[in-house]
Amino acid sequence: MQSQNKPVNAAITAVGMYVPDKIMDNKYFESIVDTNDQWIVTRTGIKERRLMENGATSDMAIFAIQDLMKTSGLKAEEIDVIIVATVTPDMFFPATACLVQEKIGAKNAWGFDLSAACSGFLFALQTGASLIKSRQYKKVVVVGSDKMSSITDYTDRNTCILFGDAASAVLLEPTDNLNFGIKDSLLYVDGTGKEALYMKGGGSLNPASYQTVDNKWHYIYQDGKAVFKVAVKGMADISYEIMQKNGLKGEDVAYLVPHQANLRIIDATAERMGISKEKVMINIDKYGNTTAATIPLCLTEYCRDGKVKKGDNLILSAFGAGYTWGAIYLTWSFD
Ligand code: COA
Repeated sequence: MQSQNKPVNAAITAVGMYVPDKIMDNKYFESIVDTNDQWIVTRTGIKERRLMENGATSDMAIFAIQDLMKTSGLKAEEIDVIIVATVTPDMFFPATACLVQEKIGAKNAWGFDLSAACSGFLFALQTGASLIKSRQYKKVVVVGSDKMSSITDYTDRNTCILFGDAASAVLLEPTDNLNFGIKDSLLYVDGTGKEALYMKGGGSLNPASYQTVDNKWHYIYQDGKAVFKVAVKGMADISYEIMQKNGLKGEDVAYLVPHQANLRIIDATAERMGISKEKVMINIDKYGNTTAATIPLCLTEYCRDGKVKKGDNLILSAFGAGYTWGAIYLTWSFD
């Protein structure tokens, strides 16, 4: 029992995921743009990604949460808050969180969408953890869900090979054992990044029109080289910084759980942290960059493979559009 005045940590107590069945491998991209498997694998680490053919971001989020509920026994009525991290909401409004709430039957929940691109899951996790730490809420579901195929230009080889569709969710609950749960976070935004990675059309600046469609402004634009330069430094530095701040050495960290945008960025981050490759969660080869879903997708897969143990220290880190970036240090709370 938690006494009323004792501080609590927010701990991840359950995980769930959904990836669509349809696979787009590198061979497929060779058939639609001027690219090749070798270029894609050596420059990014990606071999395959998934495509949501029928359904939207909310559907993937729902499947991921249903998977979490089925495997953990969580009942929909028990959920207090639903936070959906996404840059591909079904619509501007209502929030995807409302659509998810209705379909899963979370009749006692409130919720909202959070937009921080590839850092979305970390920003949402920290927000959810703060709600738990406030002691006002006991069960917060954080789901990262992005249907990147809905904003990808499949004639642009610079971007189309990078992204995939997926969703993954975690449950946050309070723990009065402060050895477990989320222990620290470092999160940042820097709006100067707006020039390098964006989707220009559809918002209040450039409302949808024939012109915005003709100009392909409803697709992702990325200056890959510019983003790579800041992402590789940003993600490595923040991951190292949170270790330093918490007195952690390489051997104290069981896993780096990095956003999966580019294997070269991930490798550079692990190197800076002084941790070996076996201690890095990787699934970019199977799913590509699924934006807000990458980190919980890694957590779910590694957890279900029995690779994450109670007491393991994890460093989660991400870099994305905005720019947005950050790292979270947590100790895993279940086997
Ligand atoms: N197939 C073959 N060649 C391609 C290609 C593809 N799919 N995409 C780009 N190229 C070409 C470019 O046109 C360029 O050709 P050029 O030299 O004749 O102009 C060449 O490959 C090198 O392009 P460059 O952009 O320098 O490649 P890169 O090594 O930087 O890799 C990315 C490109 C996108 C993989 C990489 O820049 C990246 O990962 N960027 C950061 C992504 C990220 O972290 N985003 C934040 C979160 S979303």
